[in-house]
Amino acid sequence: MPLTHTTDLFAKALKGKYALGAFNVNNMELLQAIIEACEEEKAPVMLQISKGARHYANPVYLKKLIEAAVSVSTIPIAVHLDHGDTFELCKECIDEGFTSVMIDASHECFEKNVEITKKVVDYAHKHNCVVESELGHLVGAQFDDGEEGGAHSASGHYTVPDEAVQFVKESGCDSLAIAIGNSHGAYKFKGEQHLDLERLKLIKKALSDAGMGDYPLVLHGASSVPKHLAEEINKYGGAMGTDTAGVPEADIEVARRVGCTKVNIDTDLRMAMTAGIRKVLWEKPKEFDPRKYLSPARDLVKELVRHKIKNVLCCAGHAFD
Ligand code: G3H
Ligand code: 13P
Ligand code: ZN
Repeated sequence: MPLTHTTDLFAKALKGKYALGAFNVNNMELLQAIIEACEEEKAPVMLQISKGARHYANPVYLKKLIEAAVSVSTIPIAVHLDHGDTFELCKECIDEGFTSVMIDASHECFEKNVEITKKVVDYAHKHNCVVESELGHLVGAQFDDGEEGGAHSASGHYTVPDEAVQFVKESGCDSLAIAIGNSHGAYKFKGEQHLDLERLKLIKKALSDAGMGDYPLVLHGASSVPKHLAEEINKYGGAMGTDTAGVPEADIEVARRVGCTKVNIDTDLRMAMTAGIRKVLWEKPKEFDPRKYLSPARDLVKELVRHKIKNVLCCAGHAFD
């Protein structure tokens, strides 16, 4: 089975009111864990590859690994560039056959962000590829400096609903990553904080009122940073801070219901893999066969992905809709 186009996955997810898991892939074990969980739970999946992943694994290895995943599975799989930072990188991935790319010029001013996004959109649309862009800036709620804040939008780093409409119209992007207090990594919030879900509803409504229908929004930084994984890592010699904090899964469920069609998860996979590896190496210090510590680590990632797709994103069971 060939890759499935991102457009098809989005259309079905919007219709079925579920979210697609967009999981970051850096190596074979992560990929196997994601694919096995999604295959067993009959979930469509987006595999996403960052510039760092391409640098770490070599684009050719990643391409061949994904070809292998496609040939051993039956589920729909799309391949996406995560956080492309230049037109050239996006073009490279489009030319390699990615079904979607993200151009992230969210650190630029509005006009420049539109200009760069539009350039990628123009190329992508001529080559059967779709484009995610980002408006607002993902610094997270802990750095929220309010209405008087940063330079990227009228409301500091957060996405402003009316600007989102203008941005989509002017850039022609096919999906939009929004900033609603989300951020990357394992230290997202100080204490008990939440995503700005009211803002998310207003963004979705503004796009719909502007005639853009059920426009797909993307939630980056959607790891929930499970406490039990941080504890497990620390129990076996790790040193994750006591202030780790992720997005409560209840927030992700609301985001899914409101219309975040693509939900990006990387940190949680990293933590599961690290916890699994550390446990074996701690308990069996004489072990030096990588298969002995990578297999349990892969199993932990697989169970984490299974939990996300079944209980949080609700895309399990939708592979063959
Ligand atoms: O959003 C960032 C992703 O977690 C990818 O991270 O650039 O370290 O591969 P990376
Ligand atoms: P996390 O760091 O929360 O996993 O976010 C990943 C992400 O947004 C990838 O683009
Ligand atoms: Zn991201």
